[in-house]
Amino acid sequence: MSTLHVAGLRCEYLQNPLGVTVKAPRFSWKLSSDLFHVLQGAYRIQVSKEDAGFAPSSLVWDSGVVASDQSVHVEYAGEPLEAMTRYYYRVQVWDRSHHSTDWSEVAHWEMGLLTPEDWQAEWITPDPAVLDPKSEAAFLLRKEFALQPGIRRAALFATSLGLYELQLNGAKVGDSLFTPGWTSYRHRLQVQAYDVTDQLKETNAIGATLANGWYKGNLGWQGKSELFGDTRALLLQLQVWYEDGSQEMLVSDASWRAAAGPILMSELYHGESYDARLEHPGWSLPGFDETRWASVASVSHPKDLLVGEQSERIRVTGQLKPVAVLRTPSGETVLDMGQNMVGRMRFTVEAPAGAKVTLQHAEVLDKEGNFYTGNLRSAKQTVTYVCKGGVEETYEPTFSFQGFRYVKLEGFPEPIDPERFVGSVIHTDMEPAGFFECSNELINKLQSNIVWGQRGNFLDVPTDCPQRDERLGWTGDAQVFIRTAAFNYGVAPFFTKWLKDLMADQRPDGGVPFVIPNVLGETSHSSAAWGDAAVICPWTIYLCYGDRRILEEQYDSMKSWVEYIRSQGDNELLWNTGFHFGDWLGLDAKENSYIGATPKDLIATAFYAYSTSLVAKTAVVLGHEQEAEQYGKLHERIVEEFAREFITPNGRLAGHTQTSHVLALMFDLVQGETKARLAATLASYVEEQKVHLTTGFVGTPYLCHVLSSNGYHELAVKLMQQEDYPSWLYTVRQGATTIWEHWDGIKEDGSFWSDNMNSYNHYAYGAIGDWLYRVVCGIELDERLPGYKRIVLQPNPNSGLTYARAALDSLYGVIRSEWSKAGDGSITYSFEVPANTTALIRFSSTGTPTPLVNGRSASAADGVLSVNTFNNQVELEVGSGRYTIIAK
Ligand code: BGC
Repeated sequence: MSTLHVAGLRCEYLQNPLGVTVKAPRFSWKLSSDLFHVLQGAYRIQVSKEDAGFAPSSLVWDSGVVASDQSVHVEYAGEPLEAMTRYYYRVQVWDRSHHSTDWSEVAHWEMGLLTPEDWQAEWITPDPAVLDPKSEAAFLLRKEFALQPGIRRAALFATSLGLYELQLNGAKVGDSLFTPGWTSYRHRLQVQAYDVTDQLKETNAIGATLANGWYKGNLGWQGKSELFGDTRALLLQLQVWYEDGSQEMLVSDASWRAAAGPILMSELYHGESYDARLEHPGWSLPGFDETRWASVASVSHPKDLLVGEQSERIRVTGQLKPVAVLRTPSGETVLDMGQNMVGRMRFTVEAPAGAKVTLQHAEVLDKEGNFYTGNLRSAKQTVTYVCKGGVEETYEPTFSFQGFRYVKLEGFPEPIDPERFVGSVIHTDMEPAGFFECSNELINKLQSNIVWGQRGNFLDVPTDCPQRDERLGWTGDAQVFIRTAAFNYGVAPFFTKWLKDLMADQRPDGGVPFVIPNVLGETSHSSAAWGDAAVICPWTIYLCYGDRRILEEQYDSMKSWVEYIRSQGDNELLWNTGFHFGDWLGLDAKENSYIGATPKDLIATAFYAYSTSLVAKTAVVLGHEQEAEQYGKLHERIVEEFAREFITPNGRLAGHTQTSHVLALMFDLVQGETKARLAATLASYVEEQKVHLTTGFVGTPYLCHVLSSNGYHELAVKLMQQEDYPSWLYTVRQGATTIWEHWDGIKEDGSFWSDNMNSYNHYAYGAIGDWLYRVVCGIELDERLPGYKRIVLQPNPNSGLTYARAALDSLYGVIRSEWSKAGDGSITYSFEVPANTTALIRFSSTGTPTPLVNGRSASAADGVLSVNTFNNQVELEVGSGRYTIIAK
């Protein structure tokens, strides 16, 4: 009896996405079975237009039975897809033994508006003659409209210059926040689509609130505003389909009305000021008296830059309650949320009309235990609320988020009741994917800190930090963290979106701005290890998700970054010119410098070689043979030149730092004896520091990998488990609940690193996370069958721990690797390999015979395809299934 199941249908990685504008969406599904070694033998997909019943007349694609083991990224190949149309799809699969599943559950996606001509709406803003659209305050727009009975479906499309929130008949539309999200607004502006069928009646009112946000608000530390434009505007189109086949449309146009609202100030960095006395009760309900509202004006703004969303939306993903109400030595009343979080506080207050309450947000308390905001620089992170009085009032800001653990309260009636406060955690709502746990509680806390760092900094773009006056899409930070990020959450949609913005903001000469979207100006671009995000990020997404399309789409951008480097200076094989951040925050920096001691030209040339090798590999994947050869050759020549420039004839490296050695080894710039010598030198540098690192942003992510894979795994283990400064666990011992920007953000004596660059939520050093998954638990992929179609499981139980377990929910399903040591020295391994994949399991075992697999001899165990043993190493090739192995 077959137990084959198919489930988890995704369209472009997403569950039932709306507003899709991708021409040929791709489908993925997951197989499961109780049997071992299950591979898909064939699939069939049916897509039907506007009909969940799949009547033959509504089918726009029936793939027929396709003999293939492809279960991820199967591209739609039916009739051309139409704008605003809902498509239902289902999948049936067969395994290799011709067992079939039933049809899967039905999933759907909906196409968005596909061309500028699909838009009949106008961009609108309050008439400047009656309401200053440039004022700090958020403004309101509204419109009443009537519909006929018998609505079959209604889809609402909206976007804005600035941030918008919509209400329909008194209730918020959708659950997403900070719409339309942040993109390279000059080139790309996302449109959100909402299914509002259930929210409509015969008489309706729709309302929009518009605030400054990334478009018009303050961004960056130079105090600049209006970086993309000075006028906020709304573009909205509501399409209604009736049961009888007729249609109706409501659009933003000159007939809407506008008013100032209760939000007097709302800025991403600075918080929100709200005066509840200025509310317009019922403003988004029909029947509201709008006679005193102003008219609106149309704004001219292009529509050819409108794009559908490809990433998940930003949402509230969790709620935290205060763990304590503190009275600080200087008499402040402060809530402790117990966790450095990103989002906003919701509170309930009862006070007379006009009473003002204030919440100020900060990450840490100072040495004395007082509220401390020095490291926020100019970001105010302050919410003020003026009560309307007479009732219990509940409020949370809409268009501002804060990075904080502590909240200073002012003006609240005493005694403070912590039950009246809750912290909403806000970020891009990525699908959770990974899990890591081991016998060292400090490492478990570190893993939690890494995840919180990701949650706090994946708010539509990958940011450096979420609290001070930056919160920008720093390319270098994203590049070093992406592999770890892809273990904790599904990040393909998130990076698909961001990389399009990178490409949009890339300079014509291939240079890559320091931050994406670029808000730092024309001259802030192209540092080694930062600009390389253009190559490393798409390549990593390809590896982790088998996503060939991202390489196709980013290929020109990847190439032009390498060509940019090639065109620098006089020697096309070295990069020794221009500005670089170097090994940012390396501990071997000179006094008062942020830039570590590793020579910048060594870093730049090493990354040049690495990016060139990835472009060559990409060309191979995409079948561009000539370019594969060309970039392959270029890579060889850069490696030779690197050796001439930086390696002595006897095999010593010119940069006498940990990071120099890490890069040469990590990027395969040395081989043979030189490699062994460099690894030994690196180990001696680490030993010289009494097993501590001196690396910064560039060297730290790779340091343990390089040690582990060059014969110094034990040293990597000691280094990673070091508890004194500088180390990952030092920060944990100091009470960190997120990853810090500086190893000594809080020093032993409780004092701080200087105010001007001291974030307590900076994910970069959290890049150690991928070493925990890939080395300690050994969850690896095979580049030749990426996306974990072929899995490598090679755990390292000699990691100074008694047990470790990790899991990753890949596109194929859950991959799990666990080990634990018993008192008698035996090690129990437990693995899970999802259906439609195969895995190589590698572990050590002394003596014969080969350990039993699921209680049977390895070669006879279900699912085991082959067994190899050499030098106390066992290698099993297995199909899907669960395996328990006890080894000595
Ligand atoms: C950011 C970093 C960034 C760096 C450039 C800082 O201000 O916070 O994380 O990568 O500048 O070196």
